[in-house]
Amino acid sequence: MIRKITAEETYPVRQEVLRPGRPLKECFFEGDLEEDTIHLGYFDGENFVAVATYVARKNALFENPNQYQLRGMAVLDAYRQKKLGQKLLLEGEKLLKKKNPNILLWFNARETAVGFYEKYGYKTTGPAFMIPNVCMHIVMYKNPPEL
Ligand SMILES: CC(C)(COP(=O)(O)OP(=O)(O)OC[C@H]1O[C@@H](n2cnc3c(N)ncnc32)[C@H](O)[C@@H]1OP(=O)(O)O)[C@@H](O)C(=O)NCCC(=O)NCCS
Repeated sequence: MIRKITAEETYPVRQEVLRPGRPLKECFFEGDLEEDTIHLGYFDGENFVAVATYVARKNALFENPNQYQLRGMAVLDAYRQKKLGQKLLLEGEKLLKKKNPNILLWFNARETAVGFYEKYGYKTTGPAFMIPNVCMHIVMYKNPPEL
């Protein structure tokens, strides 16, 4: 049900969930086209209904030299609360661990999604901040070997 997909294939779900009413170009994220970026999609039949992207990116808040950033985690409204978010998160963790068991995974979490990530051992750090035109976010992370 989960497959590696291209950056372009993430855009319809990103747009509907994360950038509703905004132009498709706002659904392109920096790092999308890098070789070591991983895009995952969950399919229901022919359609992608949930996506997540993992980009090799360091955040100066952390000393670990091996860092990935989770971006664009999005599940279509009609498919929420069916563990698709969980599946994408755990599959991403598995792939990253296989790449390198010392990876720290971090991301800017929407405040409304913090409780979701906490269920899987992620911790918040620092103050909440506004991403313009989007909403309040806070940095979350998980260190190896918990990842
Ligand atoms: C946040 C999101 C990715 C969760 O995906 P989902 O497929 O609906 O979640 P799951 O079904 O995998 O939920 C797993 C667990 O987390 C809980 N959970 C889901 N969303 C939650 C939330 N926003 N806050 C707190 N807990 C949440 C579920 O109740 C479930 O708990 P349980 O195991 O005790 O039953 C999804 O709601 C979404 O796309 N939201 C809008 C966009 C967004 O906020 N993306 C994250 C950007 S950082």
